[in-house]
Order: sequence, then C-alpha cells, then structure tokens
Amino acid sequence: MNKKIIAANFKMNKTPAETQNYFNVFLELLGEEKFVDLNNKDKNKNSRKKLNLINSEIIFAPSFTSLLETYNRIKNYDGSVKIKLASQNVYYEKSGAYTGEISIRMIKECGCSYAIVGHSERRCIFNETDEMIGKKIKAVYDDSRNNNPDNHNNYNNDNNYNNNINAGVIPILCVGENLQTRKKGMESGFVSNQLDKALISLKARNIPALIVAYEPLWAIGTGVPIAPEDGETMHRFIYEHLNKNYKIEELRILYGGSVTETNIKPLVKKEHIDGVLVGGASLDPVVFFDIFKSFV
Ligand code: 13P
Repeated sequence: MNKKIIAANFKMNKTPAETQNYFNVFLELLGEEKFVDLNNKDKNKNSRKKLNLINSEIIFAPSFTSLLETYNRIKNYDGSVKIKLASQNVYYEKSGAYTGEISIRMIKECGCSYAIVGHSERRCIFNETDEMIGKKIKAVYDDSRNNNPDNHNNYNNDNNYNNNINAGVIPILCVGENLQTRKKGMESGFVSNQLDKALISLKARNIPALIVAYEPLWAIGTGVPIAPEDGETMHRFIYEHLNKNYKIEELRILYGGSVTETNIKPLVKKEHIDGVLVGGASLDPVVFFDIFKSFV
C-alpha cells in the first residue's frame, strides 16, 4: 500500500520566527491527539482518532530561510506520525555563479527529503520552462546516483531522518493545466506532455521514487477544488501514463488546489489520489491540523 501524504507548501510566507511559532502550535496539537495505530490492531475505544499511522506522512515545504528552523523542530519530534521536509525549488547546477538559486546539496544539508520541482508559480511567474524542469529532475536523480554508486536506491527511508547528504532527495514534480486547456478537453495531453518533458532523461532508467503533484492552475488559490470524480480520472490517467512509459518503483500522486478541511475527505478517498499538497490552508497551524485530522 502506498503511503498517504499530506504536504504543506508555505510558498513565500513566514519568517523563521513565524515558522517557529507555527511549529510550537502544530506540534503541540499533534502531541495532544491520541492516535491508534491500526496496524497494531489496537482498538482503544477512548481514542479520538484512529489512523493508519504507518502509511501516513506529513511533508512541510517552508521558505528556504525557514528550512533549517523547521528541520530542527521536526527532527526532535518523536511522535508516531512521520514528518518530513521539502524545499520549494532547487537548481540543477551543483554550485557556482547562479545568484539567488539553491543547490541540491544545500537543501539536503538543511534536512530536506523532498524538493518541489516545476510548481506552476515557478512556471508562470518565473518563466521556468519544461526544459529547465527536465534538467532539475535529472540533477536530483543524478545526485543520488553519483553519491551512491553502489546503491541507486539510497533514498531517505523512515529511519534515516536525514541531514544525510549522501541520501537522495525525492522530487515532487508539479503538473497541471490551465482553465482554457481544460475547457477544450485537452488536459490529459497537456499533462502527459509536461510529465514526458520533465522525465525526458529517465526513459531508460530505473526511478526509485517519485511524487507527482497534479495541481490544475484553475484550482490553485481560487477556492474551487477539482471535483473528486474528475480528480480521480486525472490521477488514474497519470498513473497509467507513467506506469506504461517509465520504470518507477514507488509512485505517489498528490492533488493540489484549494484543499481545505471541508473538501479533503472525498478527494483522498479516491483510489488514485495518494494525498494532497495544500497551499493557503496550510498557513494556519490550527487549520492545517484540522485538515490533517480529516485526512487521517
Ligand atoms: P492552494 O491550496 O492555496 O490553492 O495552493 C495549492 C498549491 O499551489 C500548493 O502547491
């Protein structure tokens, strides 16, 4: 069974001090909640929440300046829910004169297990092209392979809480069509083209782990999420396209776009929706905790 993931993308919000305040609240809420690990067949009736903990994971993607702060908070969290860190972006060169960019090594040293690549805001506002996104994806997998010539699968596992620059970062590759494309009924072709361009270097390679975030542009920040049935159709299409054309050992597909505590449940009940990537509604720790509770 694939792990269910709930991810928070803070975008350009929260200073390090604000991030600290956020985790003071969020981790306290998490600590107060009584969870039952259904895998241990514990049927404690007094528990407020039953949850398949082993198969759930929370990922936070704060701004670069808050990565280390966040890592220092979550690495000491010894509760039963897994919490991991993602960067919102990463550059494909290893180092050098690339003012304003951030390298894979830098984010790994800040404790990132994941890197968001090709978010629609990067594509639309900062003119990131499919070609650049393809280079980033290649760089992320090359980095893992080059650091681990004997082990191409040395991805961060659950016990390897990382800050381990020899471990690989897993990309969270964002794709999604705009409203015009959807109105024309061309969303599948558009998204498969985005996927193929991003994964162009990986056709003949084994991909140990990949997360795709399907985030239709017309749903991001609009308050109008995709209808669960339409989400399922698109996610199933992405699964089939990737499984047919690539060798991916561990594939998960998240939905992003106006996810809240009121609409998450029917979305994540769908077979091919492995979780969500939440923007605006993740910024308040109480609200995000409510979303998390609806999620599990
Ligand atoms: P919203 O949840 O604010 O619509 O943002 C979604 C998103 O872009 C997550 O990456």
